[in-house]
Amino acid sequence: MRLRNVKNAKDILENYKYFISDVCSNKNEWSLKFGNKNPIMLEIGMGKGDFIIGMAKAHPEWNFIGIEKYESVLVRAVEKLEKEDITNVRVMAVDAKNLEEYFGNEIDTIYLNFSDPWPKKRHFKRRLTYKDFLKTYDGIFKSGARIILKTDNDSFFESSLISLNNYGYVFDLVILDLWSTERENVKTEYEIKFASKGFKIKYLEAHK
Ligand SMILES: C[S@@+](CC[C@H](N)C(=O)[O-])C[C@H]1O[C@@H](n2cnc3c(N)ncnc32)[C@H](O)[C@@H]1O
Repeated sequence: MRLRNVKNAKDILENYKYFISDVCSNKNEWSLKFGNKNPIMLEIGMGKGDFIIGMAKAHPEWNFIGIEKYESVLVRAVEKLEKEDITNVRVMAVDAKNLEEYFGNEIDTIYLNFSDPWPKKRHFKRRLTYKDFLKTYDGIFKSGARIILKTDNDSFFESSLISLNNYGYVFDLVILDLWSTERENVKTEYEIKFASKGFKIKYLEAHK
């Protein structure tokens, strides 16, 4: 994602009532934070927020936490969230590599939407479906584990299928052209961009 530095990003984020700045203080207490025991869904790399906003509106019976490693990107999401009357979303500006510092065994589902594909072999370990990340996810899932992934990138999709399979995940759904189906689909910013360039959107749902 091209990054334009946003002046005062920190201040803008801090002003949003559902931005979490004390990132480690809710570990094992996220249900308290939401004020209910609804399932908690985590989107990693939420970007500018269209997916989490659409999902939170479509599923008020679920809670959503979005994380994004760049404050300047998260600001764009927060600007949209502030215009909505949404109470079931919380957002944090953190990196996925430290998830176990922020969550106990509390997460129902992880969404990976158009994660950076890291095409160079020497960067494969940075892929969010690399085995080290899958191990980290083990530490935050409530019971079982469920990952839902969308991407335009064939190589990242293939490597994710292999990595998840090798790690013991079972596939509930694999779709090679999501937009050709009737499936309900909340679109992301990247999804719209890449689909409009003719890329097919790949989709999977997997559990352990
Ligand atoms: C290609 S963009 C996709 C954004 C959005 N999910 C979408 O589909 O439009 C990937 C996003 O993931 C974020 N990201 C990448 N690695 C991350 C990590 N380790 N932890 C948190 N966010 C990450 C990037 O900063 C970027 O905003």
